[in-house]
Amino acid sequence: MGLTSDFPSQPRLRIAPSLLAADFARLRDELAEIEAGGADLLHLDIMDGHYVPNISFGIPVIEKIRGVSNLFFDTHLMIREPARYAEAFCKAGADGITFHTEVAPEPRRLIESLRSLGVAVGVSLNPGTPLASLDAVLAEVDLVNIMTVEPGFGGQAFLTDMLAKVEALSTRLRPDQRLEVDGGVNRKTVARVASAGADTLVAGTSVFGAPDRRAAIAELRRLALEARRAAPA
Ligand code: DX5
Ligand code: ZN
Repeated sequence: MGLTSDFPSQPRLRIAPSLLAADFARLRDELAEIEAGGADLLHLDIMDGHYVPNISFGIPVIEKIRGVSNLFFDTHLMIREPARYAEAFCKAGADGITFHTEVAPEPRRLIESLRSLGVAVGVSLNPGTPLASLDAVLAEVDLVNIMTVEPGFGGQAFLTDMLAKVEALSTRLRPDQRLEVDGGVNRKTVARVASAGADTLVAGTSVFGAPDRRAAIAELRRLALEARRAAPA
């Protein structure tokens, strides 16, 4: 098995560059570069200035980039009232919607409505939110996003304490459910993240901040696969 191939007993490893760290003045080129460079998903960080203390981009941007990218749009809603806006994000071109349970008073209802819209459904947990808060919905979702920084900004340091949470969650998911880690994933942290059981790795700064995005994606993938091989689940 070559160093860039996957580990057959585990879910396929996926690298999800976060658009938040891209150069917004040249979005079309940025998207083309990561698509050609081996990105598996495009992570879209939506921030409303209320749920998190930052504002990023929204529905019109997604609509426009949908026309120039074939990547899976992994849409991370860091917004209050996700149920109010979810449908508009789906119509704009999201392939998956991840919402924060902390702001979804009726998560099962939201999951059902997302299912009826035909998108993959994810839930995200802030660093301070315990895994137990997912008990009622865990079986219903396609993906769990574990925040390994406080949501709101790219380029923050990885919270090492979150590795135990990732490990614990990895033992509770079915093979068809994805475990995504979000925040501070880079060449120094990626091996620990992969060993802990994450299969979908969001990487903003470490991909878009690199001069050669293809090389950055390939290196993250190589380091993650090496770590899996050293400690297969
Ligand atoms: C933080 C976002 C992350 C972040 C990742 O609120 O959810 O997706 O942009 O960026 P890096 O990889 O730079 O930590
Ligand atoms: Zn995110």
